[in-house]
Amino acid sequence: MIEIRNLTKRFGSLLAVDDLSLTVGEGELFGFIGPNGAGKSTTMKILACLLRADSGTATVCGLDVRKDGEAIRRMLGYMPDFLGVYDDLTVDEYLQFFASAFRLERRKRRAVIDGVLELTDLTVKKRAMVSSLSRGMQQRLGVARVLLHDPKVLLLDEPASGLDPRARIEMRELLVELRRMGKILMVSSHILSELAEMSTSIGIIERGKLLYAGSILDAYERVRGGDQIAVTLEAPAEGTEAQDAESAARTLRADSRVASVSVEGPRLEIELKPEERSHHFVIEALVRAGVRIAAFEPRQIKLEDAFLKLTKGSVQ
Ligand SMILES: Nc1ncnc2c1ncn2[C@@H]1O[C@H](COP(=O)(O)OP(=O)(O)O)[C@@H](O)[C@H]1O
Ligand SMILES: [Mg+2]
Repeated sequence: MIEIRNLTKRFGSLLAVDDLSLTVGEGELFGFIGPNGAGKSTTMKILACLLRADSGTATVCGLDVRKDGEAIRRMLGYMPDFLGVYDDLTVDEYLQFFASAFRLERRKRRAVIDGVLELTDLTVKKRAMVSSLSRGMQQRLGVARVLLHDPKVLLLDEPASGLDPRARIEMRELLVELRRMGKILMVSSHILSELAEMSTSIGIIERGKLLYAGSILDAYERVRGGDQIAVTLEAPAEGTEAQDAESAARTLRADSRVASVSVEGPRLEIELKPEERSHHFVIEALVRAGVRIAAFEPRQIKLEDAFLKLTKGSVQ
């Protein structure tokens, strides 16, 4: 379990982490989301005992980052946002190197390395040079490396950054698998949609401040507003008059389930009340009023748009 209370970190006059509190519990995959410069990496480095906070507390599995660095490092795997390049090593040599750095017992190393290669789907690349791997494979190798000492908690800083869609899916599957294995994960990203689906909870950070922490569904509910529907009225037949869009709009505005209706030429832009899930009554009301409908298009509110509302900032 990760517990952060009132954590603050300054770099000179810059407040990189500002009174941050959050909890990541057992079995969680916590998505740590915020734009570049928000303070994600700084927070993770403090948890990994690589950086000291100015004030506040942080514990990992009950251990204090200020006092128990050694013990924390044994149960924590930290993957930085920038992996060092080891151009002249094969994948296997690379993992051997870190296995010895982690002081894994020599006779266990082979089995452990084969295990993490399998898990990260890199067995076929065992003898390949690290430099020849695709970005997606290099990122998975980075994960393999932090799994060598079988840590309980994983801090992964932007593991999906710069990956193509396919590599991103592979990374997602790996992270979900790690969660299933019982690891606690804290994964950062500056792109909400990268983490939205797989996270059990998320935290949104901006300018060092935590703006939201909780389940993604709750966050979505909070900001989603009402469903939006665009209705296009049928064009008039030769020699007949156009349908009265304003009158159709008035019909809908009279319904208590409708929040607003605007008219643009033959189109109605309708927003329903947030609690209203059914769209069907809109069609019924229009048909009953004699309106002929050419198109009925419910709009998907994108998660990103919803979160823009929440943060009013730059979370993508
Ligand atoms: N070692 C450092 N020295 C000075 N400023 C830093 C240092 N590390 C990070 N910062 C600044 O702290 C802020 C937060 O950075 P960071 O934690 O890397 O954000 P994120 O990972 O969310 O992009 C940024 O403004 C960054 O420029
Ligand atoms: Mg960062």
